[in-house]
Amino acid sequence: MDNTTKREFPSDFLWGSASAAYQIEGGYLEDGKGMSNWDAFVRIPGKTFKSTTGDIAVDHYHRYKEDIALMAQMGLKTYRFSVAWARIYPNGNGELNKKGVEFYNNLIDECLKYNIEPMVTIFHWDLPQSLVDEYGGWENRNIVDDYVNYAKTLFKEFGNKVKYWITLNEQNIFTSLGWLTAQHPPGKFDDKKMFYQVNHHAFMAHAKAVIAYREMGGCGKIGASFAYTPSYALDCRPSNAMSKYNYDDLKNFWWLDVYGYGRYPKAAMTYLKRKGIAPEIKQGDENILKKAAMEIDFMGVNYYQSCVCEYNPMDGVTPYGTMNTTGVKGSSQVVGIPGIYKNPANPYLMTTDWDWSIDPVGLKYCCREITSRYNLPIIISENGLGAFDKKETDNSIHDDYRIKYLEEHVKSLGEAISEGCEVLAYCTWSFTDLLSWLNGYQKRYGFIYVDRDENDSAPMTRYKKDSYFWYKKVIETNGKCIE
Ligand code: BG6
Repeated sequence: MDNTTKREFPSDFLWGSASAAYQIEGGYLEDGKGMSNWDAFVRIPGKTFKSTTGDIAVDHYHRYKEDIALMAQMGLKTYRFSVAWARIYPNGNGELNKKGVEFYNNLIDECLKYNIEPMVTIFHWDLPQSLVDEYGGWENRNIVDDYVNYAKTLFKEFGNKVKYWITLNEQNIFTSLGWLTAQHPPGKFDDKKMFYQVNHHAFMAHAKAVIAYREMGGCGKIGASFAYTPSYALDCRPSNAMSKYNYDDLKNFWWLDVYGYGRYPKAAMTYLKRKGIAPEIKQGDENILKKAAMEIDFMGVNYYQSCVCEYNPMDGVTPYGTMNTTGVKGSSQVVGIPGIYKNPANPYLMTTDWDWSIDPVGLKYCCREITSRYNLPIIISENGLGAFDKKETDNSIHDDYRIKYLEEHVKSLGEAISEGCEVLAYCTWSFTDLLSWLNGYQKRYGFIYVDRDENDSAPMTRYKKDSYFWYKKVIETNGKCIE
């Protein structure tokens, strides 16, 4: 707590890096893969930066061996990737696509060949479009059975080789952007009632998959990954302190409490009921959520930034402000819920070109909060800096800003560990550059520069950035080199 303790990472600490199928694979209709909601969404004019798609992405589908060899050279301990549901079940349910299973078997074997622990995300936002056409995807409770069937297929096919499973990636983000702000599929605006209903379906899908994993004898570790944006009250004015409390109940604990305790936060639920937007919860659901909460092994945290909370008057800002998807600093607007909270900029923090605050302490804050509140081990499943990178004429990439960002966050994580948090893994976002959903290919996160831009005919050659060599050293010394 006093920051004087030595930062030490456990000897079996998993230094990793992460990706997601849609953002990296490409091969969008290859070997029997079906269309996903994202394959369809990006074809609607104006939805993504310069109309970028993941049709080819960074061609990992064909270059996975090269990418994993680069991970091995670096000494990576774990690689977190997601499975494209529509590669396994092109229609979401029904017939299994053997070629899809084969691809992921090969990918997993390639990791294991180099002693890289595969960490598999079951759902990272790309939903088979057939399920949307058939019954509305996540909007219909049928999704729970189809998701569980798909998850069970993965447990059966890969369960003997995969020991780390993430059920859902950032349920809070894909539902918020999908049903409140229309920026992700299905592109619905302000459908609050559906937003909470969709979330309830997703919670049930997560919970039933966790229970199924145990029933199938799975003895690895399983949990969900949450996009955790911890909050600080603007000042000690009671109305601002209360706005932070409300923000946490509505924006953080609404998800974390269900994963960790199997119940919704009471004040938030009361508020939703009063507004008539609470989800329909069937008899027996609560028991299932509670059972799953007892069975999860970790809380997955994707951490990028913290936020500030201030009271927002009834005629104040809405959740629908402009989001910066261009990298033009200062182009995002303050958002909030009228009468509850708003999130002004933090005057003490610098921001990225996409207006995300840079706050290493926030990472420790997340770990401490989870440890105190849920007493669960933690996997940092994403953390990284999206930036414009420049490849020099000699093919070097000097991303010292990324090294600085990651170094400060790793230090803060080390402090969390020395203060009693049990952290199993740290995955940077991302290993190679990849498609940033709404920001095209210019917002880069990787240790490996991929020679492509918004133009699909680019060569896709891989180049090591300076941060690649920095992380290699961090892994080699188990974090000691940044003391
Ligand atoms: C997380 C997602 O929200 O943040 C990733 O899990 C995403 O898929 C990452 O790419 C960074 O976000 P962005 O919008 O900068 O690509």
